[in-house]
Amino acid sequence: MILPIVAYGDSVLRKRGEDIDKDYPGLQELIDSMFETMYKASGVGLAAPQIGKPIRLFIVDTTGFVEEDEEDDEGLREFKKVFINPEIMDEKGEEWAFNEGCLSIPDVREDVDRPEKIAIRYFDRNFAEQQEEYEGLKARVIQHEYDHIEGILFTDYLSPLRKRVLKTKLNNIAKGKVSVSYKMKFPHQK
Ligand code: NI
Repeated sequence: MILPIVAYGDSVLRKRGEDIDKDYPGLQELIDSMFETMYKASGVGLAAPQIGKPIRLFIVDTTGFVEEDEEDDEGLREFKKVFINPEIMDEKGEEWAFNEGCLSIPDVREDVDRPEKIAIRYFDRNFAEQQEEYEGLKARVIQHEYDHIEGILFTDYLSPLRKRVLKTKLNNIAKGKVSVSYKMKFPHQK
């Protein structure tokens, strides 16, 4: 089922997500719906708060980062995963800038600096515990989605100047004054 994506300005995007257990009602259907919703919106990641649920769950599929005729040095076409109750244990390496966007903040893209490597512990969709290390774009997508379940948005990292420049645009998104090709839920829509 395709779910509406919560827009910037909704308080659910500012909550720290709660851990869930394997008996969370409708968990497998919810995960399937999140993938469907993310693909429909051409995203590479989606976190549960973005579909209105303040829980520690996000999904990624970075296939969309690679063109069909492009080499896939980082293995991005095979990187499709579900992260439940994740904890980033460590972030290291040099900070690098990447132009990020977010399905909750349409038409806004900005460079964000983040460390290149992470170590993360989480449960997969079968509630098997995993511990892995990632770098490059895989780490980047995880860091962005992980922030969502901490109540953080990529725009939070921008300089005061960039924030000022974007203020009207962000306010317009919060008011629903934005044209977007996928289904969204704006703060004034209950
Ligand atoms: Ni996002």
